[in-house]
Amino acid sequence: MGVIVAVDGPAGSGKSSVSRAAAVELGYAFLDTGAAYRALAWSVLEHGGDPEDAGDVERALDGFAFTSADDPAERWVRVGDVDVTEAIRTPRVTAAVSGIARVPAVRARLNDGFRARLAAAEPGVVAEGRDITTVVAPHADVRVLLTASPEVRASRRARELPEEDHGAVARSIAERDAKDSRVVDFLEAAEGVTTLDSTDLDFAGTVGALVALVRQAAGLEPVS
Ligand code: CDP
Ligand code: CDP
Repeated sequence: MGVIVAVDGPAGSGKSSVSRAAAVELGYAFLDTGAAYRALAWSVLEHGGDPEDAGDVERALDGFAFTSADDPAERWVRVGDVDVTEAIRTPRVTAAVSGIARVPAVRARLNDGFRARLAAAEPGVVAEGRDITTVVAPHADVRVLLTASPEVRASRRARELPEEDHGAVARSIAERDAKDSRVVDFLEAAEGVTTLDSTDLDFAGTVGALVALVRQAAGLEPVS
């Protein structure tokens, strides 16, 4: 098995972009687990289902075929043959995703798929989400909780969504974190998990700090 790097954190902490860039630098695969939850939420809506109804969610889970790029330099996400890379980032999907993510059958099924991908990744993988350090891969070689203050996280997200006002973005992030943290705890670092606070770090500095943590972990660098 390759090196497993697990990264968790709240919305806007930089998990996806920082983990992707670190994976490129390390020559590892990349797994954005939130993309799978978003893709399932998209499927529920696509089938005309209610994301708050566990029955509708379980029906969409039946035959749900999620794939995404292993290569961090690529960016595609698919459900069956449909490319949903952009569709899963809409505010409608973002608002639906916490509802589907609390259904236990969803978490069990998606976690099986994530673990299979982690086991297959050579020479390593950076996987990010909310419960990678605690549930999906508690024995990962490197476990990091990436945080940043709520203000900084909201302003990072607002920069990406110029049409939304800052206050609305901040409220939507806070609401989603509150809902999500009732299901899995990603606000406090679990035992053995290193906290990386990016509040005062720029993007390159955060990537550098994550890569340094991986390199520091003795014996982890593959012999090339
Ligand atoms: O990037 P952002 O923080 O906006 O969210 P994401 O990582 O794309 O995750 C979207 C949603 O999926 C989260 O709000 C959670 O409801 C859910 N999720 C989860 O429950 N467990 C994970 N390991 C990853 C995401
Ligand atoms: O996946 P998550 O919701 O945790 O965050 P993201 O989508 O990776 O990052 C949100 C935004 O913050 C992106 O535009 C990043 O480029 C930016 N970012 C930043 O400006 N400075 C950092 N130290 C980390 C991320």
